[in-house]
Amino acid sequence: MKIQKLDKIWIDGGLIDWDDATEHVLCHTLHYGLGVFEGIRAYKRGNGKTAIFRLQEHIDRLFESALICTIDIPYTRKEVIDACIEVLRANKMDSAYLRPIAYLGSGVLGLGSLDAPIRTAVVAFEWGAYLGEKGLNEGIRCVVSGYRRGTADSFMSKGKINGQYVTSILAKRLALKSGFDEAILLDSEGMVAEGSGENLFIVKDGTIYTAPTSAAVLAGITRDTLIQLAREENYEVVERKFTVDQMYCADEVFMTGTAAEVTPVREIDHRRIGSGKAGEVTKKLQKRYFNVVKGTDDGHENWLTYI
Ligand SMILES: Cc1ncc(COP(=O)(O)O)c(C=O)c1O
Repeated sequence: MKIQKLDKIWIDGGLIDWDDATEHVLCHTLHYGLGVFEGIRAYKRGNGKTAIFRLQEHIDRLFESALICTIDIPYTRKEVIDACIEVLRANKMDSAYLRPIAYLGSGVLGLGSLDAPIRTAVVAFEWGAYLGEKGLNEGIRCVVSGYRRGTADSFMSKGKINGQYVTSILAKRLALKSGFDEAILLDSEGMVAEGSGENLFIVKDGTIYTAPTSAAVLAGITRDTLIQLAREENYEVVERKFTVDQMYCADEVFMTGTAAEVTPVREIDHRRIGSGKAGEVTKKLQKRYFNVVKGTDDGHENWLTYI
């Protein structure tokens, strides 16, 4: 996706011009991958006002990722929350994708550089439907990847950690080059984990299943949102691991993520899922989700930070 240049970026405590937000080639994170980030969306709602969706939870996860990575972010959660709001206002955006990041800068190199400078930034930019409008409406085609999510003792899947994304990107690139829209990754035992950048749900006989957060998945905030909304709609949601063949035989499959929102999956490994179209349960939950994040459903005010 090409990024449209905007005005301002928040970095290390204040706003600077977009073009000045450059980084030295000896940036530690560029070399070794230890850094943490978030992906957050702000939407213009049905009432005409702009709200950032589940901002607190995203910033909490950023700080948890940093804790996992032994990165001591030199700002409070409140300061990073304020930075997200400030960057949206400075760029006069009424909807946006927000990318907070905390990483190790330049000046020292080597794996043991405990004194590497910690840099914190928040960037806002436009990002449409991550898996395409057509994907949102009609469903996407996926392939089960040979790349696996790593084991719990080393992959640290509860953190949103820069270096982790190598596995996801390799899986995604191979999926795209093979003519699919998205890759599905298994865990080290061969159970279904998640998409390269999304959590995954299946629907079977009216019950909704997704891997538990103790599995090798990111504890997605959209995943949590969907579970809550599905239960409000009186669906039974079971957090349990499932196999690839159980997924093939599901009535419906869908993916969730801040970027991907709620995207139906219509085909996996050349097998049609259910009717081969976006399923009824998926469509209902997708509609509810969009109504909560950008529509007129104000039932979850605590998820909204108006700017
Ligand atoms: C690997 C992975 N899983 C799941 C998700 C979905 O997480 P969330 O809903 O918090 O955006 C993402 C996106 O951040 C991701 O990168």
